[in-house]
Amino acid sequence: MNDTARGVGQAVDMSEAFALAQDARDELASLRQQFHFPASKTGTTLYFVGNSLGLQPKSVRGALEQELDDWARLGVEGHFAAKHPWLPYHEEVREPLARLVGAKPNEVVAMNSLTTNLHLLMVSFYRPTTSRYKIVIEDTAFPSDSYAVQSQIDYHAKFAGFDRAKGLIRLKPREGEATLRTEDILASIDRERDSIALIMLGGVNYLTGQLFDIATITKFAQDRGIVAGWDLAHAAGNAHLKLHDWNCDFAAWCSYKYLNSGPGAVAGAFVHERHTQDAKANAALPRFAGWWGNDPATRFKMGPDFSPVQSADAWQLSNPPVLALAPLRESLALFDRATIAKLRAKSVTLTGYMEQLLHSTAVAKRLRVLTPTDPVQRGAQLSLVIEGATRQTSHALLERGVYCDFREPNVIRVAPAPLYNSFHDVWRLVQVMNEVFR
Ligand SMILES: Cc1ncc(COP(=O)(O)O)c(C=O)c1O
Repeated sequence: MNDTARGVGQAVDMSEAFALAQDARDELASLRQQFHFPASKTGTTLYFVGNSLGLQPKSVRGALEQELDDWARLGVEGHFAAKHPWLPYHEEVREPLARLVGAKPNEVVAMNSLTTNLHLLMVSFYRPTTSRYKIVIEDTAFPSDSYAVQSQIDYHAKFAGFDRAKGLIRLKPREGEATLRTEDILASIDRERDSIALIMLGGVNYLTGQLFDIATITKFAQDRGIVAGWDLAHAAGNAHLKLHDWNCDFAAWCSYKYLNSGPGAVAGAFVHERHTQDAKANAALPRFAGWWGNDPATRFKMGPDFSPVQSADAWQLSNPPVLALAPLRESLALFDRATIAKLRAKSVTLTGYMEQLLHSTAVAKRLRVLTPTDPVQRGAQLSLVIEGATRQTSHALLERGVYCDFREPNVIRVAPAPLYNSFHDVWRLVQVMNEVFR
């Protein structure tokens, strides 16, 4: 960590020259040129919503045109003869995806959308009994996660014979605090150690930006016979994940945020290989099946019996959506160029710089940052509660070229994405915020 990431309260150089000097020595700075920035009325776009929808890599258009041309030129033969043959298309993203989330290639697959993947994985890994049936989530979990886990609980409650109303444990911060303490998460798990079947937290909470200690929580839960699954929507491409080493049971994430693969992009899933490497155990897992989850060696024998491949691919249902996967492949190539380790190092510095600037200007008097100050406990995003700010505030910011977002009841989220945001972007953002809140 360099001098721009000192703790809050320490002096920060407020000058524009300092921001420009930081950019000049940033070895990732040129990657910004690889993205399209949307227009703004001021002519200067400050894009801080990569945690919502990442920018379009410039290479995406060409990649899509390639597939469209191959389709026009080759028709069905494109499955074998396209520049990137369509039949094994999903395999093109396997290795970069594995590198990105710290997995082995056989543990990841790009498929479907996030909530769909969470459901498919819960079909296999949420196996409640009469006594062990509860699911743990954050109280501020993204709504889709709340709906997904409650519907899984409801689905099983009748058959397994437990009370659906007692099925969900929502973790709340202490009175007066915005984020969860690891010790409190562990204590809650321990309290209900014999009745919890699954913990399924967001790796980075969407509202507060808190990055959880995934390794510690996973181990603690598993030591008590609890399955540990993670929603990594806000963590993939943001935090430096080590899903294999951390021994997570499963995870899923979307690719339209930090992964820049476009609106509604194909999501990702991780299943630890210890669930698939034993052929019998793999076949015995309850699983909703489709032909693309079948062992490729026998897939085209077209038999009626499902024989799951021994990897995360076993959860695939359908043949790969080529036009949707092309942007993901292009985006992952940029992550490979940068490497997640370097991106994370820049991100820690960039977000620290933003926090320091915010605390050093006039906005500070009206500002509360919900996100933890400790870089280990956060990704790129800062969640700001600013006295007097409403949904209209984000519109006023947009008028001045700032893309950020507002989440009910009162949170403005700003996320400098290290792939394309600069120190100068951050410096300008803080100038505009001061102007708007003056
Ligand atoms: C943490 C989290 N979980 C789930 C979702 C839902 O994703 P999808 O609509 O791709 O299923 C989102 C969407 O932003 C999210 O941020």
